[in-house]
Amino acid sequence: MSPILQLVREDLRDFAGYSSARSTKVSGEIWLNANESPWPSDADTQAIARRYPDPQPAQLRSALADLYRVVPEQILIGRGSDEAIDLLVRVLCVPARDAVLVTPPVFGMYAVCARLQGARLVEVPLLDDATDFRVDLDEVSRRALAEHVKIVFLCSPGNPAGGVIPAEDVLAVAQRLDGRALVVVDEAYVEFAAAPSLADKVASQNNLAVLRTLSKAHALAAARIGCVIANPALIDVLRRCQAPYPVPAPCTEVALRALTPGALAATRERIAIVKAERESLRRKLAACAGVRRVYPAQGNFLLARFDDASAAYSALLAHGVVVRDQRGSPQLDDALRISLGTPAQNARVLATLDAAEKVS
Ligand SMILES: Cc1ncc(COP(=O)(O)O)c(C=O)c1O
Repeated sequence: MSPILQLVREDLRDFAGYSSARSTKVSGEIWLNANESPWPSDADTQAIARRYPDPQPAQLRSALADLYRVVPEQILIGRGSDEAIDLLVRVLCVPARDAVLVTPPVFGMYAVCARLQGARLVEVPLLDDATDFRVDLDEVSRRALAEHVKIVFLCSPGNPAGGVIPAEDVLAVAQRLDGRALVVVDEAYVEFAAAPSLADKVASQNNLAVLRTLSKAHALAAARIGCVIANPALIDVLRRCQAPYPVPAPCTEVALRALTPGALAATRERIAIVKAERESLRRKLAACAGVRRVYPAQGNFLLARFDDASAAYSALLAHGVVVRDQRGSPQLDDALRISLGTPAQNARVLATLDAAEKVS
């Protein structure tokens, strides 16, 4: 048995899951095995929606493998990386026994999935030092070993704090937890960061998994295409536990178009604009009256603390600008998270905050 399977719930290691019509390997000319309609819908002008899709579309899997420089067997495609988070928690955590470790303030889905699975949540708060939020990695390892933690979620760049965890530090944690816990690095925003992805380290560190998504840099949030990159033995179990047809054919089509060389070149240009805008908005925001602090974020957003976050939020809203109010998150009771928009939209954020401060 592959060592990574020791971390999988014992009752699921050999679970076959649902055997769908598309997963049965047979060939033929006339397909009458899935109770599909023999005619396409009038609404389906490209005739791509009549049949159930391949559960893991091979062409998309291989395009994603090329993009992330891994092999297709290391990839499971799901409905956004959200589905991968949920699947990982369900497949690894025994309810009421195992735990999931998170580093708040951080993306909320890890805690939601833990709660739904009845897994305990172990929280190791980020440390807010003079320059940035930082993950307390020694404490992460210590608590993970002490508290039956099966999955450690590390978000890099972090949402909403925006910091990157150095690759060597993530690998050191994974080595310390080898055989005990899976370390999942959520790289939803890594395309916007100066640091490289850890995807290529998955092959040599079997308890490391990486989450990637087409929702952010690739501008396909509505297509819901994300993936987990992990040891092929773990991918195989996750696939068997996944819902029968998780990747809708129209979503596969748009994703494949987004991964052609021309579309990828356009994506790279958009990323460069976002990064330049991020640095420019960060400087200007930091100089704004009423802004206490702007974090050096590496994603497509900025986290800022305000003298009066409520007034800033309301002023932006009154001018039609909706940002994320972080005041309900731990350590962030004066903070807003602002996604980078177009240069014109970012200019409007600044102008609105400037005008609001002059009035007050
Ligand atoms: C850190 C992080 N991970 C994962 C996701 C989910 O992304 P997806 O659209 O791939 O489900 C988000 C969405 O905002 C996120 O911020």
